[in-house]
Order: sequence, then C-alpha cells, then structure tokens
Amino acid sequence: MPVDRNSPIGVFDSGIGGLTVVREIMRNLPSESIVYFGDTARVPYGSKSAETITRYSEQICRFLIGKQVKAVVVACNTASAFALEAVQKEFSIPIIGVIRAGAEVAASSTRNGRIGIIGTEGTIGSGIHASFLKKLDPKIEVIGKACPLFVPLAEEGWTHDPVTEEVARRYLAELKSQNIDTLILGCTHYPLLRSTIRKVMGEGVQLVNPAYETALELKQLLKERNLECEADPQAEPEYRFYVSDLADKFRHFANTILPYDVPLTKKINIERY
Ligand code: DGL
Repeated sequence: MPVDRNSPIGVFDSGIGGLTVVREIMRNLPSESIVYFGDTARVPYGSKSAETITRYSEQICRFLIGKQVKAVVVACNTASAFALEAVQKEFSIPIIGVIRAGAEVAASSTRNGRIGIIGTEGTIGSGIHASFLKKLDPKIEVIGKACPLFVPLAEEGWTHDPVTEEVARRYLAELKSQNIDTLILGCTHYPLLRSTIRKVMGEGVQLVNPAYETALELKQLLKERNLECEADPQAEPEYRFYVSDLADKFRHFANTILPYDVPLTKKINIERY
C-alpha cells in the first residue's frame, strides 16, 4: 500500500521521555500530525534485555503502522540501541532513532575531545554512542555513566527536587572528575532534569539534547522521500496520544511538557500487537 504523505508520524518511548522529542517535532515540523505511544505499563526499558526491548519495539511499530503512520521515530535511546536495526529490517516505512543525531552534535561541538554520555544501563552497556563517536573521530574519548534512577524521578515529576539533585551529584561525580567538555543526555527522559544536571555539572560542560537534531533528521528524511505533509498550512495538525497504562497521569505530564493542550490519552493493550 503506498504511503500517504499527509499521514501522521509515529513516535514512541517507554513513557513520557519521548515527549521531549515530540516537543521538537511540533516546533520544527509544525504541519505534521503525530501519533505518540508511551509504554507506561512496561517502563522502564533501561534495565531490560535487548530481546525484550526488541519484542516491545516490534509490537509498538505494528500498532503505529496500524494507525497508518508514514514514518516512525524511536524516541528512546534504549530502544534505539537495542531494536532500531531489527525494526528497520522488519518494516518497510522509514524508521529513525535518537542516537546518531546526539553523537554527531557532540562530536562537532567538543573542543577537548572528551565526551561524557549518560543513559540507562541498557544504553550505556551497549556502547553504541561510543561506537558512533569513534567512527566520527577515532581520537574522541568517551566516558559513559548509567543513571538508572533518573527515569523514575522524571516519571514521578521530581524534576526540581533536592532528592533528584542528590542523586545527580552521586551519579555525576565520576564524570565531573574526567575533564569532559560535552555531555550527551543519552536518554530522552533526561532533558526533563536538565536544570539539575546543569547545576551539578556547571556551566563549563555543554549538555547535548539530541531531540532537536532528531527533529531535523526527520525533516530531511521526509523531504528526501517526498513524504512531507502537503496539507493546507492553515489546517491544524492532529496529535493523538496512546499509552499502555495510567492514561490520566500521562496526560497530566504531557500537558506540562508540550506546547499544546493534550485533550485525551487513550489506553490500549499493546500485548495484542
Ligand atoms: N527514555 C528512554 C531512553 O531514552 C527509556 C528510559 C527507560 O524506560 O528506562 O532510554
């Protein structure tokens, strides 16, 4: 079936983290409609195996493709690390992740060649950022640190909280002693804790949030494939939100993160896909 250029973009994450990417898609591709799925019943992804995350990602892509999306953004570093290649092979529509964009920005902005990367245990354990960065410049030194408590703190809404700051100080102490000048926020939940991470790391370290570059990569991809929306520019895009659990809690968060009032979030049974 030919893909319709006025179809929506599918975006997914384990929970609210992918909304940091949706926010940039809304800003930079304002005519595109979006179908978002947050896997709130199965969050966190960061402590699960590659096999499990691949199965989840395949189910979600099937669900989104059933909603006639024309492309998918895997707005989750863990799923991008573990499952992007598998879903790109399995499905015929274009699918992009969030890792390449972050690595490219970090490589072009570091001055001393020392880049820190924080993410989930899965993402850091996969070493995927380091392999992208080394391909871009073999001289770059990459220092990774898993920060597993950041995801539940963000999901709990404790984005500006002394507990979060204490946790950040403990996790980031090691990175602070490594003379890095650039730090990739390698989990889409982490931009929600940006001000705390900034406070702990200090002004001298550049924080890279790959969301903006991911939106630009998506824009370029749609252009190359002749998939940009042709709808009347005055027409409002349609945004739809689905989750696997706790729809109201998700909707409340989405309204604090997005420049758009989320009227409805629907709970679906993702295990059916
Ligand atoms: N936001 C996701 C990521 O970028 C997943 C976090 C989690 O569920 O552990 O890795």
